[in-house]
Amino acid sequence: MNPIPFNKPFMTGRELWYIAQAHTNGHLSGDGQFTKKCHGWLEQRTGAKRALLTHSCTAALEMAALLADLQPGDEVIMPSYTFVSTANAFVMRGAVPVFVDIRPDTLNIDETKIEAAITPRTKVIAPVHYAGVACEMDTIMDIAQRHNLIVIEDAAQGIMSTYKGKPLGTIGHMGAYSFHETKNIIAGEGGALLVSDPQLAERAEIIREKGTNRSQFFRGQVDKYTWVDIGSSYLPGEVIAAFLWAQMEEADSITARRLALWDKYHEALAPLEAQGRLRRPVVPEGCTHNAHMYYILLDSLEQRTRVLANMKSQGVSCVFHYVPLHSAPYGVKNSRHHGDMQHTNQQSDNLLRLPLWVGLEEEQERVIRALREAL
Ligand SMILES: Cc1ncc(COP(=O)(O)O)c(C=O)c1O
Repeated sequence: MNPIPFNKPFMTGRELWYIAQAHTNGHLSGDGQFTKKCHGWLEQRTGAKRALLTHSCTAALEMAALLADLQPGDEVIMPSYTFVSTANAFVMRGAVPVFVDIRPDTLNIDETKIEAAITPRTKVIAPVHYAGVACEMDTIMDIAQRHNLIVIEDAAQGIMSTYKGKPLGTIGHMGAYSFHETKNIIAGEGGALLVSDPQLAERAEIIREKGTNRSQFFRGQVDKYTWVDIGSSYLPGEVIAAFLWAQMEEADSITARRLALWDKYHEALAPLEAQGRLRRPVVPEGCTHNAHMYYILLDSLEQRTRVLANMKSQGVSCVFHYVPLHSAPYGVKNSRHHGDMQHTNQQSDNLLRLPLWVGLEEEQERVIRALREAL
């Protein structure tokens, strides 16, 4: 029996053709024709004032931290149940992550616990849209407005998902997407920063171009470009953008195929949930999701370890994540948490991710059978 991998990057078939075109165009550094196509697509699809491709979501979050002008000792409220980059982008500016617990239903930051974690040093709230399912953004934006805080959405997993009709990544002041090969729309490594405020957008362009106004120069708005701010090199080359463009062209069909796989798991596992043998993901009303991930929640770490090993013995690769950041070695020394972290600790022990990738259709039934067997 063929092993079923946890992830398999999907190629649309036009990636190499577009890379060859980039080569023929003779423009291989950043911000060429393909980057512009990707920017246009992102701006049109999300309504963001400005979308800028980056090397990764990590890079986009680092740019957001620079744009937020964080000073050493400033605090950023975020979930602990997230990827390390959510925290590191701010820690690199000397800021302190302040973790609050997650909701037991969506595993997103518990919006009811944010306000109590605010101190005079709080500058940013960084909600993470776990599994491409939105955080409770109305509440978060209301808290931010009342306390004059910046909201930076970690929408690494959230492309094509919405909250009350608004694309994730465009509700806060800034949003970051990932195009890592494990995501829905991929470039190998890649990301984007979305910005809506025109002044922030102008500064974002500069920070991304090594602190220079080179983008304005290329548009003929200034007659020479020079050092005007801090910054770094955050823009990807055209080979990456060409690959990504092939993916963006198929973003609707990729998402539809992922949703069909997600729905099939959801339907097949409903009886197991009814019998109390697992818990399925929850998508709150008013949210549409992009089928980034299908996870199940089991009863304990011991059960998850057993199920994972059993699935592996049947040739099905499953994974789990995250080690909560508040209990990770670096987090213990360089962050703090507010309130107890009950759901964070519990769900990180109980969560198991099933394979979900375009092309799994033919073998999905085998994954479901294996899971029934393993349980
Ligand atoms: C929630 C979250 N934030 C940030 C990242 C970082 O994305 P990238 O690998 O594009 O830097 C990831 C990647 O898995 C993620 O899941």
